[in-house]
Amino acid sequence: MTVCRQLATQLVRSGRGILAADESIATMNRRLYAAGVPATEQNRRAYRELLAGTPGLAEGVAGIIFCDETLRQRFADGRTFPEAVHQLGMLPGIKVDTGAYACPGLGELVTEGLDGLPARMAEYAALGARFAKWRAVFVIADDLPSGVALWANAQALARYAAAAQEAGLVPIVEPEVLTEGEHSLERCAEITARVHAAVAEELVAFRVDQAGMVLKPNMVVEGNRHPRRATPEQVAEATVDVLRAQPEELAGVAFLSGGQPPERATANLAAMQRHTTPWPLTFSFGRALVDPALAAWRGAPRRVPAGRAALAARVAANWAALRGLGEPARV
Ligand code: 13P
Repeated sequence: MTVCRQLATQLVRSGRGILAADESIATMNRRLYAAGVPATEQNRRAYRELLAGTPGLAEGVAGIIFCDETLRQRFADGRTFPEAVHQLGMLPGIKVDTGAYACPGLGELVTEGLDGLPARMAEYAALGARFAKWRAVFVIADDLPSGVALWANAQALARYAAAAQEAGLVPIVEPEVLTEGEHSLERCAEITARVHAAVAEELVAFRVDQAGMVLKPNMVVEGNRHPRRATPEQVAEATVDVLRAQPEELAGVAFLSGGQPPERATANLAAMQRHTTPWPLTFSFGRALVDPALAAWRGAPRRVPAGRAALAARVAANWAALRGLGEPARV
């Protein structure tokens, strides 16, 4: 088995999920500020150590995604983040895209970061990263996304995935259809299917080995301004339906949470498990795992245990969801 296939198996076939703690510096600063925490490098570091150092995290989390800054920072005890995460029984990963920007001539968001990517990937691998992530976003509107935006983002995702595998890093391929809007669940399903078809075509064209790759899609949900909220069963059915087009050899699917309340993301994940699929369906949540931890910590060293307990509770709930168990009772 190739290195990427082995690592992908560890990441998504061990009954665990992935923690996304890879907010860019600007996004992290916004979230710290909103929580009343000064947006400094030290606080970004302390917050990521709070998350990664949560006791027992490796029982429910197989890998943690960081951004460039965190990958180069150290735990208070002097270990680099990648060293500490390996020692704690998880795989460190790295977000390698440089963000989504309005594309000249188009106006829609296209993700950047391909320039110099192979050299950056080699450096990240040397720093200890074992997997990578690239996110493309798609806005739903009456005439959006355009075919050109689909193609531009899909091609970048596939070029990135091929470069990651050449560097020995498992690519997490993240095409995210955003929830902003009044659209129905059916419209989200239609656009998600179109996005996946474009990505699939480019992955084949760039000879990406799907057995050494993880797909990180949105769940199929209604827009955040839609009047009716779909049930977990409806979300699961629509999502699995769209995913049926994926090749059997794909290592696994790890969903983003996309701004859903943590309990809803978990309930949807639990409902997915009632469907039989050739690949595992697990989580790679950001906000649905870390928001409660940030709210509990609020920058105070004495509240680190409370922040860790909040993260551990969400991880335990998603661990249970993967096993078809309900949300554990609140204590
Ligand atoms: P959310 O779960 O907060 O959507 O974040 C996942 C992620 O990795 C975004 O790139």
